[in-house]
Amino acid sequence: MTANPLILGIESSCDETAVALVRGDRTIVAQAVASQDAAHRPFGGVVPELAARAHVERLTPMIAEVLAAAGVRLADVDAIAATAGPGLIGGVMVGLVTAKALSFAARRPLIAVNHLEGHALSPRLVDAGLDFPYLLLLVSGGHCQLLAVHGVGRYRRLATTIDDAAGEAFDKVAKILGLGFPGGPAVERAARDGDPGRFKLPRPLAGTNEPHFSFAGLKSAVLRAWTVLPDPADTDRADLAAGFQAAVIDCLVDRTGRALRAMPAATALVVAGGVASNTAVREHLAALAATHGLPFVAPPPWLCTDNAAMIAWAGAERLALGLVDGLNAAARPRWPLDADAETARGAGIKA
Ligand code: KG4
Ligand code: ZN
Repeated sequence: MTANPLILGIESSCDETAVALVRGDRTIVAQAVASQDAAHRPFGGVVPELAARAHVERLTPMIAEVLAAAGVRLADVDAIAATAGPGLIGGVMVGLVTAKALSFAARRPLIAVNHLEGHALSPRLVDAGLDFPYLLLLVSGGHCQLLAVHGVGRYRRLATTIDDAAGEAFDKVAKILGLGFPGGPAVERAARDGDPGRFKLPRPLAGTNEPHFSFAGLKSAVLRAWTVLPDPADTDRADLAAGFQAAVIDCLVDRTGRALRAMPAATALVVAGGVASNTAVREHLAALAATHGLPFVAPPPWLCTDNAAMIAWAGAERLALGLVDGLNAAARPRWPLDADAETARGAGIKA
């Protein structure tokens, strides 16, 4: 194995088709992300069958485009890493089967990457100085977890959501307020002009001794506040979006502060996942880290939302430890990072 291997990464677990070439020395050689927003917008959310079909159409040409942009051939690639779960199983299978075919044809190792590990290690792609163990707040459309990251493949889940994920709550509130799809960025934009103090909204579980998150009650409170407005205008929409975002941030900061107190060995506070691209979320978490005297690490926004550079990088980290997979690697709709974590009280079935 070369000292500076070139990894081809493939991501297809939700509604982004993505391909990247990343080197072990953290060079992002080339990458592409094709969002399927337009295909799913008429339905107000991701339609799994549409997503899988779009991955089939886009993935193979995109791999050729990324190799061409980098001026390399498949034979120059040292390993092929693909998301093997958790996610929408049709899309995961498209990416994983493609990676297996390339691995077999090029006689290069396959690395079956946990999408959540892609997010969890993404900060180390852009910050070579970030050492284990760190506290990770993983906030995406499907997950809201606090994880003690002790090393590659070594995670202890400190908290999870007992109902909705934070990104899911952003998406549902966007729908309630008629802000469209995808919801997170739309709520953030609307909140910029709003008064966060006008509507009194709950902060579920904040200040309690239990470690977990909950957003369902907050989302219902937004719905109630919205439906009783006689003739809602843009200012109402902005105020409610701002109030909702402020409540989510208070919950994230409160729960993360609690976890930091429970993890005195943490070298840094790290945030990753789609919601981590929210500017206000980042600012408040940075302030929290500062009060604990810890560095705050947040990947650039493009690396927070789904992409293949983080999958290639997780592949590079695993390859360096000799962690490669056989062609029988399974596609997994659910795949928790901490297999020993107990189900949280009242939790729905979430990885
Ligand atoms: O990590 P990601 O791209 O996909 C998953 O693995 O889920 O996260 C997508 C989620 C969506 O729920 C989206 O609404 C949310 O991240 N999101 C945001 C923002 N950008 C994306 N939430 C709040 N503010 C944003 N700017
Ligand atoms: Zn994701």
